Amino acid sequence: MSVIILGIESSCDDTSAAVTKDGILLSNVVASQAIHEAYGGVVPELASRAHQQNIVPVVHEALKRANVTKEELNAIAFTRGPGLMGSLLVGVSFAKGLARSLGIPMIDVNHLSAHVLAHFIKDESNAEQPEYPFLCLLVSGGNSQIILVKSYKEMEVLGQTIDDAAGEAIDKCSKVMGLGYPGGPIIDKLARQGNPKTYTFNKAQIPGLDYSFSGLKTSFLYSLRDWIKEDPDFIEHHKEDLAASLEATVVEILMDKLYKAAKEYKIKQVALAGGVSANTGLRNAFHDYAKRYGWKVFIPKFSYTTDNAAMIAITGHFKYKDKDFASMDLPAYSRVIL
Ligand code: KG4
Repeated sequence: MSVIILGIESSCDDTSAAVTKDGILLSNVVASQAIHEAYGGVVPELASRAHQQNIVPVVHEALKRANVTKEELNAIAFTRGPGLMGSLLVGVSFAKGLARSLGIPMIDVNHLSAHVLAHFIKDESNAEQPEYPFLCLLVSGGNSQIILVKSYKEMEVLGQTIDDAAGEAIDKCSKVMGLGYPGGPIIDKLARQGNPKTYTFNKAQIPGLDYSFSGLKTSFLYSLRDWIKEDPDFIEHHKEDLAASLEATVVEILMDKLYKAAKEYKIKQVALAGGVSANTGLRNAFHDYAKRYGWKVFIPKFSYTTDNAAMIAITGHFKYKDKDFASMDLPAYSRVIL
């Protein structure tokens, strides 16, 4: 018998629903919330209201595109956390209501492990998938982690940021430069036209495999302040070189520790996940390290790097096969560890 899973994602500012059949993706619908752009960041209250508006049409559309009726569903997988509580509650409550009305099991999914498991989404591209164990660099607006992935349910965090996440640092530097939100894609675009060797910023020296990005952010801010004293239009005159140098510093910090982890754990299969994995400089560095060190690298499609329900549905599929179901009284969690 076929296994059809509906996945629901609502942890931050994207409402998404996806359908998989026997682990193959049939649909993945994402409604993003443009409303936050005006505020330079996600406003939690507005995010939960937008989820309330979007959830029914998004799920309806995902089922329609998959050509599946809700009565054909075997289970509903949903993001339990981490994320914004008001946003999570919309997806969790919706999943509970629908699962109860259909009399089918629910499957709770950790958003972070789903980002890692996005590499197992099977679609028409037939992309090669990593084999266990592999390393995954998970970089987003809220996380920067090096994860040793031993199986779909066994993940060990080898290192993580002790302060800001990589995406958060890029976004804050971009804000200081007066660029739009989110800063990551804007910095990426500008960096393509700049020289990454123009400026040097502080890189924190911390032991082990952990990261730190707050020093870089402060160094960027103070350097900029000094340069603006000399030339009030400094940012406008040098924004491409600033973006390229900032991006290069972040990529160098990320890759140095990842290389250290790969060496220490003798692993050559290395995957990239999370929103920052859309970054061109980081993707190039992955290919470069693959050539230099004989790594086999796995870089997800752009649509699977940002928040999406396809990764929730595929995780749900794995858990369904193990009959790992959630109870009706399961609460959402704004903070959960991997
Ligand atoms: O995983 P994600 O969509 O959301 C969460 O943080 O949960 O990641 C968003 C982060 C933001 O910081 C955004 O600026 C960054 O990913 N980002 C990028 C790029 N595209 C998105 N950072 C650098 N270069 C990009 N092309």
